[in-house]
Amino acid sequence: MNTLTIFSGNSNPDLARKVCDSLNIPLGKCEVGKFSDGEIKVHITENIRGKDVFVVQPTCVPANDNLMELLIIMDAAMRASAKRITAVLPYFGYARQDRKDKPRVPITAKLVANLLERAGADRILTIDLHAAQVQGFFDIPFDHLFAVSLFSEYFKDKVDEDWVVVAPDVGGTKMARAYAKRFNSGLAIVDKRRVSDEKAEAMHIMGEVKGKNVIIVDDIIATAGSLVEAAAALKKNGVKDIYVAATHAVLCGPAIERIEKSDIKEVVVTDTIPLGQEKRIRRIKQLSVAHILGEAIKRIHNEETISELFAL
Ligand code: R5P
Repeated sequence: MNTLTIFSGNSNPDLARKVCDSLNIPLGKCEVGKFSDGEIKVHITENIRGKDVFVVQPTCVPANDNLMELLIIMDAAMRASAKRITAVLPYFGYARQDRKDKPRVPITAKLVANLLERAGADRILTIDLHAAQVQGFFDIPFDHLFAVSLFSEYFKDKVDEDWVVVAPDVGGTKMARAYAKRFNSGLAIVDKRRVSDEKAEAMHIMGEVKGKNVIIVDDIIATAGSLVEAAAALKKNGVKDIYVAATHAVLCGPAIERIEKSDIKEVVVTDTIPLGQEKRIRRIKQLSVAHILGEAIKRIHNEETISELFAL
């Protein structure tokens, strides 16, 4: 592993350090700061000629700074003659604008794909993309991992065939089905309508939920509008306890207040995005994806198959 180097920007250095710990290697030496006018300043302070470089940098809030840091670190690595550069985005920001759903809007997921490639990425590694087809926006290898094994391990002693896994919208059905298969439990789908960026409405519940414990699975909790609407609709339909497994804890705007006021018993998220102090409430539990990323990085570096890490 002496040719493998992992760098981090400022978006989630704790996760990058944990990934390095899982691989028993030190974090690569790289200074990422700002010039006095606010522009991002990067200096890789070790020799990386011929090295297999991985840059761990989720593009979460502040998304623009974190994305720019990632691009600039890769540019520095490319100019320092790294042999191969993998952009590791545990959370791939800007992915929700992945199609033109009305006139005169951008497709930011494609724009970010272009930027990553132009900045020097030779491959991409990410977890639980908002929409799997974003992979097709790239013309370089793309490894898309899932957090399902992490959540199913956490819930395995709790959930049984008497529980129901719930997709909070139709788009989440495939992922929810994967969880239901693992838990050998039922499946229900919330027919959601998004009213605005912060507000969603749950129209109907498809599937049998009355008298059951449920686990809502989602890729992202942003404002928690989708989540609390789904939880309220499920309560109205007579469910018992409500749990949540969601990979990316964006948790912006009213999210924490909404979760605290809701009937949800526990929200389990991962550390793809750091949880600030104000988000560390009793009901939110955080699991680490470090060993999943570490294992994938090790296998990519050793040119080994990682397909079993993709298993849904
Ligand atoms: C929607 O398609 C996603 O899977 C999430 O449900 C959504 O992005 C969460 O956003 P919010 O928490 O603001 O409702």
